[in-house]
Amino acid sequence: MRIESYVPPFALPYPSHVLISCPLTLTLLFSTPNYPFSIHPHPVPLPSLNNFSPLTMLPCVFWLQLVLILLSRGENCPVTCLCPDPHTVDCSGRGLTRLPDEIPLDVRRLLLADNWIPRIPSDFLVLYSDLVYLDLRNNSLSHIEPGTLSTTSRLVFLDLGSNNLTEIPKGTFGESRSLIKLRLGNNPYLSMVNEEAFLGLTSLRELELERNALSTLKVGALSQLPSLRVVRLEGNPWVCNCNFASLFAWLMENSHKLPNGK
Ligand SMILES: *[C@@H]1O[C@H](CO)[C@@H](O)[C@H](O)[C@H]1NC(C)=O
Ligand SMILES: *[C@@H]1O[C@H](CO)[C@@H](O)[C@H](O)[C@H]1NC(C)=O
Repeated sequence: MRIESYVPPFALPYPSHVLISCPLTLTLLFSTPNYPFSIHPHPVPLPSLNNFSPLTMLPCVFWLQLVLILLSRGENCPVTCLCPDPHTVDCSGRGLTRLPDEIPLDVRRLLLADNWIPRIPSDFLVLYSDLVYLDLRNNSLSHIEPGTLSTTSRLVFLDLGSNNLTEIPKGTFGESRSLIKLRLGNNPYLSMVNEEAFLGLTSLRELELERNALSTLKVGALSQLPSLRVVRLEGNPWVCNCNFASLFAWLMENSHKLPNGK
């Protein structure tokens, strides 16, 4: 078996290529961390044609598979995750109880849904400053540390739905100007949203707060959002007091922003 770096005679959209050949039959041309691999016929005839036996092939195929398993982890892809393209890390539904190690620093889409992650460090988005899409749906987050998001964050989409958040304090989202869609629904203990929770989210178009434990919401929390087009509030145990009256009035005026008229 030969393993060598291989520069293909044609352009492939991947950074690195490796050629693995077993006697006679298999050449695998693949790139890391992209897979599946493509299998090509061997490009040069081998002299050992007479000695060919399926048995001699077996160890080679075994080693080839082993090398593939090792290499398919990629230089950058966390061991338990998939990296379907150079900017996406998909660790959804892996039973993770914390953030995986070795997430490439230039990740743009990070999918962490359906795990048991209880917290994200406050410097996470400083470190992963290229992140535009962060899916933390259905984890065990109970709060977002202040300063996690900032004005410089590039995050466009943030899904914190189906977690265990209890309140959204003032400045949680750090005047993050890129944020367009924020999902906060299905947090069954989320009963407090500060009037200035979303302050500075000047690009926010879609805000989901459905099926939380909100009995009240200051109208200012919504009316301060200049780009808001869609807001979901259904499935909360609203209490009809003065606060609610002003929220209700705002909702009537802005009923076009409510997806299902609730
Ligand atoms: C939430 O994540 C858990 C753990 O991975 C999974 O078993 C469950 O089906 C997920 N729930 C939903 C609604 O996707
Ligand atoms: C969610 O939060 C509630 C109330 O703070 C707590 O009782 C519960 O144990 C938490 N559940 C999980 C899965 O962390």
